[in-house]
Amino acid sequence: MRKIFISSIGTGHGKTFVASHLIRQLRAKNKVQALKPLISGFDAADETNDAALLLRALGLPVNEQYYDAIAPFRFVVPTSPDLAMALENREVSLDEMMQAIKLRTTKEDADICVIEGAGGLFSPLTKHHTNFDLLLRLGAPLLLVADTRLGSISQLLSLLVSCRMWGIQVVQLVLSQSEESHAMTPQDMLKSLCDHGVRLPVVMLPRVKEHDNLPDITGWMR
Ligand SMILES: Nc1ncnc2c1ncn2[C@@H]1O[C@H](COP(=O)(O)OP(=O)(O)OP(=O)(O)O)[C@@H](O)[C@H]1O
Ligand SMILES: [Mg+2]
Repeated sequence: MRKIFISSIGTGHGKTFVASHLIRQLRAKNKVQALKPLISGFDAADETNDAALLLRALGLPVNEQYYDAIAPFRFVVPTSPDLAMALENREVSLDEMMQAIKLRTTKEDADICVIEGAGGLFSPLTKHHTNFDLLLRLGAPLLLVADTRLGSISQLLSLLVSCRMWGIQVVQLVLSQSEESHAMTPQDMLKSLCDHGVRLPVVMLPRVKEHDNLPDITGWMR
């Protein structure tokens, strides 16, 4: 089964928004699966938690059984995963996370599994590992999301250097319009990134209300 890892330059940049959008588009031609291996700040009653949004994009019921299927490690405390683990007295190792992912992706009953990381690419995931370590272990291509708030270009350029150094294949960059009123546009951001030597497939997303009429984000699948 193919995998795509969705990460971003920080928390709240639009990973789940993009993942849901991507899942809906992929479902037109593919059998799609999704995983959010670790969630912190999880509230089952909140219909907009990441797992619920991904389940809805997959057209699956939102309940405990499906939460277990797509988000095996759920923490209630709304903080970084390593701290949530310490506060909830439940350590999860990278090996355990990899096992849970393997268990859910070996049946080959889907064409592609969309995996959303937790927070930013270098956000701590366990006591000793970050999302980047998980990505290296998965060996999956990366779809990187950044919104247009001030500071994004610097963070994005730093992440791309790390990806290049470690041989991570960035197959898609998604630049999403931030809701901040003084934010630049995705077009401004793309121009600046190009001026600074970035040569990657880019999709620009406007700020929208619904998922309808968003640009195609599946080009990397072909
Ligand atoms: N292009 C967009 N148009 C409209 N709303 C957007 C867009 N991009 C992101 N959002 C909204 O911004 C908020 C943050 O996005 P999202 O939850 O997808 O971020 P995230 O990176 O998944 O965050 P987390 O690190 O908590 O998982 C959400 O309410 C989402 O619906
Ligand atoms: Mg999310």
